[in-house]
Amino acid sequence: MDVIRVTGGARLEGEVLVPGAKNSALKLMAAALLAPGETTLLDVPDILDVAIMAELLRRLGCRVDHAPAGRHVTIDVPEQVGHRADYELVRAMRASISVLGPLLARVGEADVALPGGDAIGSRGLDLHAEGLRHLGAEVEVEHGYLLARAPRGLTGAPVALAFPSVGATENLLMAAVLARGTTVLENVAREPEIVDLTRMLTAMGARIEGEGSSSLVVHGVPRLHPVEHRVVPDRIVAGTWAYAAAVTGGDVHVRGGRPEHLVMVVDKLLAAGVDVVPTSDGMRVLGPARPRAVDVATLPYPGFPTDLQPFALVLGAVADGSAVITENLFESRFRFVPEIARLGADVRVEGHHVLVRGRAALSGAPVQASDIRAGAALVVAGLVAEGVTEVGGVQHVDRGYDAFVPQLQALGAAVERVDVAAPGLPVQG
Ligand code: UD1
Repeated sequence: MDVIRVTGGARLEGEVLVPGAKNSALKLMAAALLAPGETTLLDVPDILDVAIMAELLRRLGCRVDHAPAGRHVTIDVPEQVGHRADYELVRAMRASISVLGPLLARVGEADVALPGGDAIGSRGLDLHAEGLRHLGAEVEVEHGYLLARAPRGLTGAPVALAFPSVGATENLLMAAVLARGTTVLENVAREPEIVDLTRMLTAMGARIEGEGSSSLVVHGVPRLHPVEHRVVPDRIVAGTWAYAAAVTGGDVHVRGGRPEHLVMVVDKLLAAGVDVVPTSDGMRVLGPARPRAVDVATLPYPGFPTDLQPFALVLGAVADGSAVITENLFESRFRFVPEIARLGADVRVEGHHVLVRGRAALSGAPVQASDIRAGAALVVAGLVAEGVTEVGGVQHVDRGYDAFVPQLQALGAAVERVDVAAPGLPVQG
């Protein structure tokens, strides 16, 4: 049973290199299914979720080589691919549902287990299912599986999303590229990872208009070809390093971090008294002696990302003043709040808001990660807590952060990964 053990007090200094985005790489791996032959992805992070997606593609009949050192993945897709994503894999990683659109487009059928995944909100699949029905698919739920069928292929149609869901936008886009005729997708998500997917699909021969806007027009083509593609840098990892520098009064050069993908985050950091200076290949982040409290509300891109909300809360916990942190996407992200309270943070949940009153310092304690970002944010909180913080649930951090502990060590943090034996519980008499 591994924990990340942090001893607070270090000021982070030095440079880090941001890898390709998890949330792009996973979808690009799924998109490879759309074209028989060998797709190569560069700058793929060496994380657990990529290994899970590789396993899913293997079970669908692909040959997948993942070279962690070189950070690249090659996927050899056969002419005949399978059509089933098992519960075992979908439960381990919700992003497995990104094979739904490509499989339906390529094979005409897909059986995808309904996910459990991260402990962040209910996260329905209704928008995915409804959109695919508009493209002519029959979609049903049976025995815990979403069964989608389009035996005569998909047909382009207008589809308006009730909410700009990232996953639904991606699945519909990947389904529409091989549909007959034109699909107009309205109110789609505009995250940089979706732009990345649009670019790869276009390089594969897809015809897509409106890249980066909330309306995409897709003219279906009969066949796509494999390509080599470099994954967009991970803005959430870049934001993680920016907050780690900000709260420790540090000075970190976040190489590969793109400030233009973090406009709202940079605004909030500047308002907190943090210096963010764009450089030729990233951004330099200089934290003040103590940050000022700032309100933050999460929204779909280009709004403040929900994945960075726990870090904004850590900053609020040690800031000068009080702030309201509002979560508009995933209610269960607040499972992190009682954990940061264990570190002495003055936090109170009111519906989907947290009122946080800054304290001069937190105090180290054992805490438990409930999802990827909560895990990393608890480690960052440990950096500004007096004494020792032990973060359990480390497998969550492994899902999304490549070499997190070694990179923190290189920046001067007193942090290590340790295997602690599960403590025996006292026997009740
Ligand atoms: C993706 C990201 C996740 C990020 C989120 C929002 C990946 C692997 N994960 O998740 O890190 O936090 O975007 O930026 O890329 N919803 C429905 N019905 C649907 C689909 C979604 O009600 O059919 C709701 C969800 O419950 C949630 C909201 O829409 O409240 C946003 O979900 P969505 O944008 O789809 O996020 P994901 O693609 O799951």
